[in-house]
This record gives sequence, C-alpha cells and structure tokens, in this order.
Amino acid sequence: MMPMENPLLIIKDLHVSYKTDDGVIYAINGLDLVLNKGETLGLVGETGAGKTTTALSILKLLPERIGSIDSGTIQFHDERLDNAPEAKMRLIRGSQISMIFQDPMTCLNPVLTIGDQIAEVLESHCPPGTKAAEIQRKVDEIMTMVGLPPDRKEEYPHQFSGGMKQRVDIAIALACEPELLLADEPTTALDVTIQAQVLDLMRGLKDKLGTSMLLITHDLGVVAETCDRVAIIYAGEIIETGEVDDIFYLEDHHPYTKGLFGSIPSMNEKMKRLNPIAGLMPDPSIKYVGCPFADRCPHKMAICETQKPQPVVTNGHMIKCHLFSSKPAGDNK
Ligand SMILES: Nc1ncnc2c1ncn2[C@@H]1O[C@H](COP(=O)(O)OP(=O)(O)OP(=O)(O)O)[C@@H](O)[C@H]1O
Ligand SMILES: [Mg+2]
Repeated sequence: MMPMENPLLIIKDLHVSYKTDDGVIYAINGLDLVLNKGETLGLVGETGAGKTTTALSILKLLPERIGSIDSGTIQFHDERLDNAPEAKMRLIRGSQISMIFQDPMTCLNPVLTIGDQIAEVLESHCPPGTKAAEIQRKVDEIMTMVGLPPDRKEEYPHQFSGGMKQRVDIAIALACEPELLLADEPTTALDVTIQAQVLDLMRGLKDKLGTSMLLITHDLGVVAETCDRVAIIYAGEIIETGEVDDIFYLEDHHPYTKGLFGSIPSMNEKMKRLNPIAGLMPDPSIKYVGCPFADRCPHKMAICETQKPQPVVTNGHMIKCHLFSSKPAGDNK
C-alpha cells in the first residue's frame, strides 16, 4: 500500500438519503474517499451514481428537509463537516471550499453588477491596499478566461443568459482561491476552447496555491490530462480508486470499471466518453445486500448476491470486488 500522503479531506462510511413524497432514496451507501493536499481526484461514474450528492454532502448543501447525511464522517483538515453547524459551514463555503455546480444554483446577487461580484471575491484574496485598477484588470482577465466579454461587467445577473451566469459562477469559484475546489462537470456546458481555458485556470490554481480538487467528469480525456488519481463510484459507493496510470494501464479492474472504460483503452486511442453498460443500477429506494453490480456483472458468483465485497488494496490501487477478495496482496499487476 502507498504511504498515506497528506490527507485534506477524509470521508468514511458515508450514508446519504433523500426523503421524497414517494419514499426514501438511498443515494450514498457507505462511501469512503480520501483527497490529499494538492491532488486532483477524478470522480467518475454513470448518471445517478451519487457524484453530485457526494459534493453537496461535503459542503452541507443537500436540499433542505429532503436530503440528509444519515451516518458516517466527513473530515476536512482536523474538523468534522458532517455535523458542523450552519454558521461554520458558511465560513468554509467560498473561502476554504468552493464548488462549481452542475446545475448552477446561481447564488448571484441580483442588485450587484457581475463585475462587482467577481471583484468582491478577488478583493478578499488580494493583499490589503491592492489598487482598484489592479482588481479590475483581474476581473477582466478572469471573465475573458471563462469566455465572458469584460465589457459586459457593468451588467446585472438578469441581463445574462443561463450559460453566461454559469460562467460567472465558475469565475467566482476560481477567484475564491479555495483550498479545495469541488468541480461538478465544470466544462460540459462550455465550448471546447473555453473548456480548455477553464481547465488551465484550474491547473494554474493547483500549481500556484496547491489547491486540491474533486473533479466530477464523464470525459476520460479530462481525467487523463488533469487528474492524479481516479475514484470510480457506483450506486453510492467507491468501487475502485487508483493513480490515473493504474486506472488506464493496469490489467486488473473492477468489472464495472472495465465496462465503463471500454476495456481500458490507451489514451492514444482518443477514447473520450464512458461506455454505456447494459442494465441499470439497483433501485435506490431499496437497501441492497451483496455487491451492487452483481446483476450486471459478467463474472457474478454466488457470494456476490449475499455478501458485500471488502476493499482490497494493492500498491495504493483499491478494488472492491469478490474476484479480488481471495487474491494475495501484491498480485495485482
Ligand atoms: N433532490 C433529490 N431528491 C430525490 N432524489 C434525488 C435528489 N437528488 C438526487 N437524487 C437521487 O440520488 C441519486 C444520486 O443522484 P446524484 O445527482 O448524486 O447522481 P450523479 O452521479 O450526480 O448523476 P449525474 O451524472 O446524472 O449528474 C439518484 O438516484 C438520484 O435520483
Ligand atoms: Mg450530478
């Protein structure tokens, strides 16, 4: 096993559910995740696997009265976030941890101009006494990087389209210079050139400030170019994690990962999208026993239907699958 590096965020045995009028949805079911300082961790998995729910849980932004953390812990530095009071979370959000939302909630203030709202965030991260002209130069720079014309900075949020407001959200999340950035599909709504610029901005933050990132994406090209490690999520739990090279080049994988990545092509093949796999994830309104992938798995054994597989870690590469449970450690190459 790799030495434990420098963990910034540690999630242990997290369970999150949504209580809806139609019953309970078990969205996160025993999720474990470690994010080290300065590391970019890709979170990959099919729709409904629990990626957004994981990010919202970290920031305690689950929909009020519907979504709740039922058990488990989320530790950031030495502090527990899962049971932190709202006042504390307000201090953390946007200063230490910021998020680029998949569905922008647009926390923009309707009575302040776009430029003023970006400037406000930049000011709080510039040394005291930084000249207004310098801040304005930075506002123009960051607007250009996310594909917004700086000459529209005097306009108000209602004058911006949905897509433009999303770019403002991205600009603000990045201008916060957070220690941890949760980026939920940050580039899907953007055109290719701007996508590349936003990823550059994110890499710049990492190089300049050692920002850690949880990067939720469906784009394997983005994973290969931007991430240090990858975590594969399925039915609300992490079923495989490893260094990017392990995920792309090692032979041994969870059968779900193999299916998803289309037998793990080398990146030269320019395989960009995740493969659809036949079948569906288990019904999230039922607490399943055994391995959640069993019904779709080509290697299903009797034990898979009755017992949850335990994580097997070899040289820092973790796989949660009964196929690997009996293998001796070190036999993973
Ligand atoms: N507000 C909500 N109320 C009820 N169920 C919800 C709510 N939000 C998410 N869910 C359910 O929780 C599960 C996880 O959803 P989540 O949005 O975290 O998935 P995701 O991995 O982000 O998917 P996608 O790739 O489509 O964004 C799904 O079964 C989803 O239907
Ligand atoms: Mg999502």
